Amino acid sequence: MKNFATVLVLTILSAYIKAGADYLVTGYPNLHWMFQTNIHEYVHYIETAQNNGVQIIVFPEYGLTGMVEDPTEYAIEIPEVNSGNRFDNYWLHLLSTAAYEHTMYVVVNLLEKANNENNETVYYNTNIVFDKTGTIVAKYRKINLFFEPRLTPGNESVTFATDFGITFGLLTCFDILYYNPSRKILVDSFATDVIYPAAWTSTLPFYHSLTIHSGYSLGNGVNLLASNLNIPSRGISGTGIYGHDGTVLSYYLSGTTSSRMLIGSLTPRGVPRAAEETETPTFQTRGFNILGNETETHDLRNFVTARDFNTRNYQFQDLELTNANTLQTVCHGSFCCNFNVSLSDISSSGYYKFLVYNGLANLGGSDSSIKVCTIIACETSDSSTCGNRNISLSTRFSAISVTGDFEKNRR
Ligand SMILES: *[C@@H]1O[C@H](CO)[C@@H](O)[C@H](O)[C@H]1NC(C)=O
Ligand SMILES: *[C@@H]1O[C@H](CO)[C@@H](O)[C@H](O)[C@H]1NC(C)=O
Ligand SMILES: *[C@@H]1O[C@H](CO)[C@@H](O)[C@H](O)[C@H]1NC(C)=O
Ligand SMILES: *[C@@H]1O[C@H](CO)[C@@H](O)[C@H](O)[C@H]1NC(C)=O
Ligand SMILES: *[C@@H]1O[C@H](CO)[C@@H](O)[C@H](O)[C@H]1NC(C)=O
Repeated sequence: MKNFATVLVLTILSAYIKAGADYLVTGYPNLHWMFQTNIHEYVHYIETAQNNGVQIIVFPEYGLTGMVEDPTEYAIEIPEVNSGNRFDNYWLHLLSTAAYEHTMYVVVNLLEKANNENNETVYYNTNIVFDKTGTIVAKYRKINLFFEPRLTPGNESVTFATDFGITFGLLTCFDILYYNPSRKILVDSFATDVIYPAAWTSTLPFYHSLTIHSGYSLGNGVNLLASNLNIPSRGISGTGIYGHDGTVLSYYLSGTTSSRMLIGSLTPRGVPRAAEETETPTFQTRGFNILGNETETHDLRNFVTARDFNTRNYQFQDLELTNANTLQTVCHGSFCCNFNVSLSDISSSGYYKFLVYNGLANLGGSDSSIKVCTIIACETSDSSTCGNRNISLSTRFSAISVTGDFEKNRR
């Protein structure tokens, strides 16, 4: 663990987790009551955050409404950015006032209603950012929708600069898997830190919320504030604050619907990714799995996860558990991954395999090409038993480094 104490410049809060959406939507006599209760709860968290010296707070995707499919009743018109801190809409007024009174940047996700160029009403999944005066200084419309048929995708990536010297990029949930905007905000702008409201459903073995977060943060070398909704019965949980150097400041994964606010101090990365990018067509990325330490997870029996894994298509190779250190290159066709694994606690029971894949995968209802370099736990030596969550193994890793060549500007 790095010591942050001497270089502490920035205090950031991420990751407040909202209570379960089913409860939210059905538990209120009417819409007004629901907004009132949730915004009241947001304000309560903003107050608590202020007492901890927090400069920016991030609320999760669908946090105000729960996961509704029909936006017509819930959507709000959002004024242009930088048009002051007076709002006709009562809910925006309350949020703006909270940001102003507690002098804090506040990031809220909600459903937005707008007119398109043909003067038709369209709906967006939108993040808005209030600055410390309560003015909306950024508005980002989710580009990569995930089974949100009534919504229109946004078409612009968005970053914003703060008065504490950090430029943030904005992503929402499924966006994190796509070049535009998850890499675009880093290579086309000067964002060093990323804000990420989500309502992410974890699917094993590749799309667990926490591994996606740490992989994105470490692979791109950016600080990440990931704020996930919390509905464990639907596999939606996993919130964290991730440092650009691979440190995980704080994370929370739960099988209960209780809310949790995470607070962390991040050191700025300094040099934006964009300024460092070379002209080489590929970049090396690396990642690791943070799930070894179970102390920040809570009663996961009720955190329900599906498994989506056609093992026949993947390239496997056994990880020998007899050596303390293993260097291994594994290829699927011409795509190769390099692994460097150190074991701290060697146990010959259990199975781990290296796994490499370069091909299509169904993401959000359509086929996308993906590349995977990973180490996976298995029940037996048979690859079809890999990647389900019932496996318990006593081997412990002290370090895992994974590198692979990925196209820099793949879309
Ligand atoms: C857009 O439609 C609204 C009614 O839905 C109408 O009041 C308004 O005048 C229209 N604006 C334009 C520019 O056509
Ligand atoms: C996004 O769409 C809006 C409205 O259709 C248009 O004005 C804007 O130029 C588009 N931006 C990009 C980057 O395509
Ligand atoms: C695991 O959690 C414990 C208790 O919070 C902490 O003391 C320890 O440093 C953590 N280990 C790692 C590797 O993060
Ligand atoms: C592999 O990892 C170990 C432990 O982190 C490190 O000491 C070693 O230098 C690494 N080897 C290579 C070739 O990267
Ligand atoms: C995991 O174990 C439980 C109880 O032992 C069992 O009910 C469940 O089907 C198992 N799940 C998988 C994916 O093997």
